[in-house]
Amino acid sequence: MPHRFKLRRTVIEGVGSYLPARCVTNEELAQKVDTSDLWIRERTGIRQRYIAADGEKTSDLAIAAAKKALENAGRCATDIDLIILATSTPDNTFPATATRVQAALGINSGAAFDVQAVCSGFMFALNTADALIRCGQADKALVIGAETFSRILDWEDRATCVLFGDGAGAVVVSGQEQTGTNEDRGILACKVHSDGRHYDKLYVDGGVSSTGTIGHLRMQGREVFKHAVINIAAVMRETLEIAGIAPDEVDWFVPHQANKRILDGTAKKLRIDPERVVVTVDRHGNTSAASVPLALDCAVRDGRIKRNDLVLLEAMGGGFTWGAALARW
Ligand code: ACO
Repeated sequence: MPHRFKLRRTVIEGVGSYLPARCVTNEELAQKVDTSDLWIRERTGIRQRYIAADGEKTSDLAIAAAKKALENAGRCATDIDLIILATSTPDNTFPATATRVQAALGINSGAAFDVQAVCSGFMFALNTADALIRCGQADKALVIGAETFSRILDWEDRATCVLFGDGAGAVVVSGQEQTGTNEDRGILACKVHSDGRHYDKLYVDGGVSSTGTIGHLRMQGREVFKHAVINIAAVMRETLEIAGIAPDEVDWFVPHQANKRILDGTAKKLRIDPERVVVTVDRHGNTSAASVPLALDCAVRDGRIKRNDLVLLEAMGGGFTWGAALARW
């Protein structure tokens, strides 16, 4: 028997998501701020978004999504030895919201912590889980993106309040010995980037050590748009090159759902067939760190993403931060 090189890969075993019960349409928003369904749909592709109920916390959304991901993976909560929760809207300044999720799931061993990279948070969390699993520090992880952005929106600013929604998505990942080829299941390549020179282009104007207040989201929309298309296309290319995979070999693109025009612009740059791009921004709005796992869950549950499909996930957010991951399902 020839010796076959073994490589530890991070395999995505299951996915789940949760949306709050309350759906807010563009028409409803147009009764509160000077906007219209037509403007929002034409500029962003968004038709509606979900908003958390009073008292419904980011951890509540995260716990619901995590339970569904565990069920989808056929795993018990006690199998999990790592929880990484991506959020910019934690329950409290500290402790990490991930520890509340850990306790609610009845897990009291392993590690649980939050990562904060705004809309790219899930890519940073997945990248971190992949690194910890591949180096043997963890074996089975829950990677969650959960947000209640409705709590940091200025509901009088029509340029931002129409864009975002609340929600959560989660995946269960596990370390598995694979052959080391691109036929393996699991994460084949991933990459994250940041460039803090753009800090002020998308930020919250409050904070613990600056104003002592929570603050509201502020954004230079056109600047964000311009950088998003360039950075996302670049990191997608970079990730595919690490694995030696061409864009046309990818079965499904699961992008961060910020704006339909950003999705279209990026797909055009990489000559991706729009039919292979998973779009949920029309139904969910921009749910920040939750948007990629929410979209992933939709495409898995409706049968589009199947075992052995090549899936490319990507996101860009405040900081700026951006990243991508290529995985065989
Ligand atoms: N309804 C009606 N009119 C509006 C609204 C609204 N909700 N919002 C802005 N306008 C008006 C503006 O006041 C402006 O009016 P004026 O010309 O009289 O001054 C006009 O529309 C054009 O405003 P712009 O900001 O230039 O509009 P633009 O075409 O750039 O679209 C948008 C704005 C949708 C925010 C766009 O810039 C964008 O999508 N940027 C990307 C931002 C993004 O997706 N951020 C999410 C977080 S980051 C991320 O996830 C990647």
